[in-house]
Amino acid sequence: MIFYPIQKLVAAGIEDILIVTGTEHMGDFISLLGSGKDFHCALTYRVQDEAGGIAQALALAERFTGGQPMCVMLGDNIFENPITPLITEFLAEPGIARILIKEVPDAERFGVAELDGTNVIRIIEKPELPPSNFAVTGVYCYPSDVFDIIRTLEPSERGELEITDVNNAYLAQGRLRAAMLDGYWSDAGTFPSLARANELVRQSPPEA
Ligand code: G1P
Repeated sequence: MIFYPIQKLVAAGIEDILIVTGTEHMGDFISLLGSGKDFHCALTYRVQDEAGGIAQALALAERFTGGQPMCVMLGDNIFENPITPLITEFLAEPGIARILIKEVPDAERFGVAELDGTNVIRIIEKPELPPSNFAVTGVYCYPSDVFDIIRTLEPSERGELEITDVNNAYLAQGRLRAAMLDGYWSDAGTFPSLARANELVRQSPPEA
């Protein structure tokens, strides 16, 4: 599964990639991916000591990114289409954070965009009553000041630093753009979604 996000990033011209994972899986990732040369990229690894959230994992990338803007991709997300258009738009305005949203039947499992027309006005993490069917997918582009935002976050009810709070902070500053994602998308965080991701990839392998 991790091959897909790496292929997407490399195809979009991103060849320096940091992999963040927990202690229990890090050895497996290094055995599988090595230096990245087989994937035409350079891989660096950092351990996230506890399950403290995606924003906490991203904070580990501060030195790695060295003041440059960045793209974050969740390792369990499968995107059918290339992310090149997202990256091109981001690089034209690297001070603006970007997310992709997608209509789903089970929005309560995700960060959900509350919409006013086509504008995102708020994102709610795993709402019991979703304000829309548009989930925030696991690809994000951030300006280099994302680490200052992460430093202001408090853990959520589930004890994590939430990427949704990062996105809401950019929204509050008027510096978040959301676009609709074309093509299929699935996470694999539950057994049904893993089965669905498998089936989607079997029927139509993602385009790099
Ligand atoms: C995470 C994010 C959520 C996002 C989802 C995409 O959820 O918190 O906002 O919609 O990834 O896969 P989690 O994997 O923590 O359940």
